[in-house]
Amino acid sequence: MRLNNVLPVLALAPFIFGGCNADPKQQKAEAQAASAAQQVYVAPGKLDDYYAFLSGGQSGSVFVYGIPSCRFIKEIPIFEPRAALGYANNPGSGTYKRLVATGPLWGDTHHPVLSQTDGRYDGHWLWINDKANERVAKIDLRTFEVAEIKLVPNIQGAHGLAAYLPTGKYVFVNGELETDAAGNSTDSEKYRSMVAFLDAQTLETKFEVSFVGNADIASSGKDGRYVFVTMYNTENATTSEGMIERDRDAVGAIDVPLAEKTLAEGKFTKINGVPVIESEKAPGVLTLIPVPKNPHGCNVTPDGKYVLASGKLSPTVSIIDAKTLKIIAEPEVGLGPLHTTFDGRGNAYTSLFVDSQIVKWNIEKAVKGQPDYIVDRVDVHYNVGHTKAAGADTSFPSGDWLISLNKLSKGMFLPVGPAMPESQELIDISGDKMRVVAAFPSPPEPHDAVMLPRKILENYVVQTYEVQPSGVKMGEERVERHGNKVDVYMTCIRSKFVPEQFQVHEGDEVHLRVTNVETVRNMTHGVAISKYGINLGVDPGQTVETTFVADKPGTYWYYCTWFCSALHLEMRGRLLVKPQGVALSDTPGAVTPQDKARSAAAQKGSSYE
Ligand code: CUA
Repeated sequence: MRLNNVLPVLALAPFIFGGCNADPKQQKAEAQAASAAQQVYVAPGKLDDYYAFLSGGQSGSVFVYGIPSCRFIKEIPIFEPRAALGYANNPGSGTYKRLVATGPLWGDTHHPVLSQTDGRYDGHWLWINDKANERVAKIDLRTFEVAEIKLVPNIQGAHGLAAYLPTGKYVFVNGELETDAAGNSTDSEKYRSMVAFLDAQTLETKFEVSFVGNADIASSGKDGRYVFVTMYNTENATTSEGMIERDRDAVGAIDVPLAEKTLAEGKFTKINGVPVIESEKAPGVLTLIPVPKNPHGCNVTPDGKYVLASGKLSPTVSIIDAKTLKIIAEPEVGLGPLHTTFDGRGNAYTSLFVDSQIVKWNIEKAVKGQPDYIVDRVDVHYNVGHTKAAGADTSFPSGDWLISLNKLSKGMFLPVGPAMPESQELIDISGDKMRVVAAFPSPPEPHDAVMLPRKILENYVVQTYEVQPSGVKMGEERVERHGNKVDVYMTCIRSKFVPEQFQVHEGDEVHLRVTNVETVRNMTHGVAISKYGINLGVDPGQTVETTFVADKPGTYWYYCTWFCSALHLEMRGRLLVKPQGVALSDTPGAVTPQDKARSAAAQKGSSYE
């Protein structure tokens, strides 16, 4: 052993050989690290207890992590295409066109919301907003794909998002940035904000409530009466100084049944096709509850009794009675309180942006004015925004895990240039004392998260698609020509496209329909066509379509983009684009007995390779 190899080993000796002269403090820290590691260790092949859905911020997506392992599982692209997983990765598809029709190919996702039945998550839907482009999307949790996406008229900055409880018939979204939607005036006196109520399934905007000021974060009461929004700019100002002028801003409480009655009585103005209730003309629809200036988070306790508005510029949380709308306490919790979450045992956990802490406090003790309401504090790294405990927005939080979504990771991870990843920390809240047990990075930039127990979702997730009637069946692959329109009916299976070659004339409009005829989970194929900007991901049983104009003459290979078998590289075919007037001859190829054997083997769950 050379000397320069020996020295580092000697330096590590106290750690490796621990023993007699080890520092007790050091030993304690090591023991704690070991027990934390054990808590988050999920062995290969074992599944996590929770799906955590983190909004992707400017990535326009939702990130799925496993909890407690903090393993990254999947990105769900929503407001922008992704070559591999994008539901809209195919410019010729209906989904892509639908996305383009609602706005640009990027988004800023903030607040993931899970559907509930009887006060518990049901694992059906996840809604998410695009703050930048005023859109809301609904993700089908059977497939983790976008099922609906709609533009919300009349608002700018679609920020807070929540489901109206207990029925869940609306999701409502806050317009954070004030404008004159009715008249497009630049006169700020005419600026209003709106809270838009969308049909939770179709995402059509059913009605909006307008008011002077803005609406930031949203939360629903539990009894079907009020929904709540924080308002940090009741000044209706257009400068940051102006927005902090007043000592108190507000929590707005919208009386939903009264709003519905007002609509039924026709007391609304239609703006861009949407009925808008102007709160100034409809007394009672909106009640403003004054709270310290520039509040941020708005969270209803699991029992529905209180609304907690986090102070942001004030070190307090305002506790509002959700029925009487009166403030009943304003306990001090620390500097920069942003959001509050719950464990179902009567405790609140508030994120402190300035202090970089999560503070745990007892709600009833604070309500009663008892001085010992603060239970615990824990440092996080660094500058926490949202925080969310498992199930905290249902009536039955599980009280085990809490995620701290930190804005700055500073030195937490390997340096990767001036911009660092975002940082999340996982905190065990099952005991009296909070315990940070893990930190994990993510791309920019999660705002908020929700955790869904695996048990609710895992058996509901689709494993393979049911073959659609429009799907192409094995043996029925073909090329049909109708003038300059060419319909190609293609199948794919390990490890072949049928047809392996098709011919068109230069300038033909090609409609390609591909069915993946595999019947086992996970056996996704892809169809990328060189020089034509097309990449289709096709899951087992799924049929994907695209349309393009074959405007480039020559040979264009299409190949499989998902590594599927030992013959993955051979899984390719040719698009031959020939000059007009040249006779075309198709050699579509066919499924061979070997292909069928492979398919049969796959159906038994065994792999061809
Ligand atoms: Cu199919 Cu690779």
